[in-house]
Amino acid sequence: MPVDMTAHAHGGDILSQPVQLPYSGKTAKNRFWKCAMTERLCTFSEMDEVDRGRPTKQYEHLYEVFGNGGAGVIVTGNIMVQRRFIEAKGNAIIALDLQSNDAASFGVVAEAAKRTGSLILGQLCHPGYQASPPGLSERICVSRLPASGKDGDSADPPPTPLTIQQIEELRDAFVYAARILYDAGFDGVQLHAAYGHLFTQFLSAATNSRQDLYGGSFENRCRFLLQVLQGIREAIPDPTFVLSVKLNSSDFIQPESGFSAVEARYIGQQLEVFRVDVLELSGGAYEFPSALKPTEINRQRHSYYERFAEDITASLTRTLVTVNGALRSAARMRQIVESGKGSFVGLARVLCAEPDLPNRIMSGKAEDAKDNKIPSAGYQFLGAIYQLCAIGEDTEASDYSDERTVDSFMATAKWI
Ligand SMILES: Cc1cc2nc3c(=O)[nH]c(=O)nc-3n(C[C@H](O)[C@H](O)[C@H](O)COP(=O)(O)O)c2cc1C
Repeated sequence: MPVDMTAHAHGGDILSQPVQLPYSGKTAKNRFWKCAMTERLCTFSEMDEVDRGRPTKQYEHLYEVFGNGGAGVIVTGNIMVQRRFIEAKGNAIIALDLQSNDAASFGVVAEAAKRTGSLILGQLCHPGYQASPPGLSERICVSRLPASGKDGDSADPPPTPLTIQQIEELRDAFVYAARILYDAGFDGVQLHAAYGHLFTQFLSAATNSRQDLYGGSFENRCRFLLQVLQGIREAIPDPTFVLSVKLNSSDFIQPESGFSAVEARYIGQQLEVFRVDVLELSGGAYEFPSALKPTEINRQRHSYYERFAEDITASLTRTLVTVNGALRSAARMRQIVESGKGSFVGLARVLCAEPDLPNRIMSGKAEDAKDNKIPSAGYQFLGAIYQLCAIGEDTEASDYSDERTVDSFMATAKWI
């Protein structure tokens, strides 16, 4: 486990203590880490494929608000690296075949987020077979789809497995997007290897049965992720550029796809080879409200997460860890940093309701995040997106601690 030298050196609230990232040498001003959240606030034209994925005023304003809220590190929502493979309409896109998305348009976003001293990382993502909406994106996969899953009943033709040439193009697409963000003044990038997107589809044996260099052994299944890290390091020789990777333990919980202790250690060691500053871990049992129920599956999930987190952090000597998942109370956040489980506390949904929660906790004005009375995880996700849009528009975000607001949200909510 990496030794966090700064955690106990300052006195005062541990959450407000700065931390120096081990490889880039950059300093995060405190322990609050704003997790990636898809904003869907960039341009999206149905007719003009080129007019997609460009930052808007709303997107820029959202990051200014998060910067003002005090988080030490801000990770953007997932940015797509190929324009025909998106997670949702309105995603930011930086793609080789979309040269209009230049560094300048992302530069204003970086500047807005960094004005009060936060670090900003752009989260790079490819959804792989999860690309949506159907009909807009092409359909590709690493090798096969999971036996059950969102495409299990689809009438669409099955996606096509990637050729080696396509894999190389994908690596180049990630590297290109990282380079644009570097030129735009971002402090670094995070690779989104969570929630079943493309990197996970390579890592997991449930979706990767390739027989070539990218499948079979665990080392082979890691190859794509590591090649992207290597490509970014080569294209951006500046050692102060921050690299982060996000993994979600729930992606690997099925017996067929689970990480063994040896595999978790292997991936941890490899992250250090490529000087990854921060590994973000999600997937604890407390990620969503339903996970709080004391059911057998939740017990298994939690113990899997704990083991996964322990195995992977045991192999880290320098890379720091961010822990996220339903963190609401400052006491719990302090416990995570004090116990050494994480150097950062990752917050997502609570920041949609209160983007300034980090500042409020550090100034002693808050000890707990506002309650969220939306009853299901799916609707909490949707409610959070509504809040992000409202913040971007500079209007008041709905307060889901209020039952009447929740009732009217549940009566009118529409998936976007
Ligand atoms: C509205 C919303 C959008 C999200 N989008 C992303 C995303 O783009 N990339 C990602 O890695 N995780 C995404 N997540 C997951 C969060 O980063 C985080 O891992 C998860 O919500 C758990 O944190 P929380 O309990 O503080 O919400 C999203 C979550 C929400 C609520």
